[in-house]
Amino acid sequence: MSEIVYLNGEFMPLDQARIPVLDRGFIFGDGVYEVIPVYSRHPFRLPEHLARLQRSLDAIRLANPMTEAEWARLIHDLIARHAGNDQSIYLQVTRGVAKRDHAFPREAQPTVFMMSSPLVTPAQDLVENGVPCISAIDYRWLKCDVKSVSLLGNCLLRQSAADVGATEVVLFRDGQLTEASASNVFVINNGRLLSPPKNHLILPGITYDVVLELAAACAIPIELRGIPEAEARSADEMWVTSSTKEVLAVVTLDGRPVGSGRPGPVFKVLHRAFQEFKRKVMRAAA
Ligand SMILES: Cc1ncc(COP(=O)(O)O)c(C=O)c1O
Repeated sequence: MSEIVYLNGEFMPLDQARIPVLDRGFIFGDGVYEVIPVYSRHPFRLPEHLARLQRSLDAIRLANPMTEAEWARLIHDLIARHAGNDQSIYLQVTRGVAKRDHAFPREAQPTVFMMSSPLVTPAQDLVENGVPCISAIDYRWLKCDVKSVSLLGNCLLRQSAADVGATEVVLFRDGQLTEASASNVFVINNGRLLSPPKNHLILPGITYDVVLELAAACAIPIELRGIPEAEARSADEMWVTSSTKEVLAVVTLDGRPVGSGRPGPVFKVLHRAFQEFKRKVMRAAA
């Protein structure tokens, strides 16, 4: 049986969902998206994800086709149509179908698509032992704060990691750490948690914010500032964070150990805090 997805006002089996080939999402990658983790059938940080969706839509000058309440209703409806307790909701809005022309069409209905997949968080082994990563020059565009479906740069970079069995590719632009192909990056140096500040060079991760809140609650000193490549490479710890990876320790970068080459003590504190926080939020929602 094909899973149920949402497309332009209707729920339908995935194998019946169709969009016209002139959809600007297909032709130009002209659209934005969100990935929302669902724990125990409850969408995590939904208002924050919908606020980021609004910022992405504003950045590409596309009117939001739905109110926040309508999005929330549809997302809960989609969750209810799937059996798993933990799900990953993918939603995408494109500028819709129009004659091919780079400039925006005067009249087009946005295409709205949503699907749910089982949420696969990192296996215990990866949490306990950390993951290998490689690095690369960040050659993506200068609007990385927009969660755009135009992900060719990210895909090419991620494939370079996949080619060598690495989990992620940590990116440097002009000699400074930015993020990874589908994650934000944190480093620990001398007990301080460092990460690049939110700007046009990184995606403002929802997990990034959660990690900063938890670090503050754990009295871990935080510095959001430019991180020179040499400082990142000599860090005591490095982590990648995202809605599906949660918080993962990077134990090698380009084959060289990060710090001790094992998940560090600050990672363990933060990872435990993250799991406890999730449980607390889910209990409150139940
Ligand atoms: C480029 C990039 N940076 C960071 C993130 C992490 O964002 P979030 O924590 O909201 O999943 C993602 C998530 O997919 C991403 O694609």
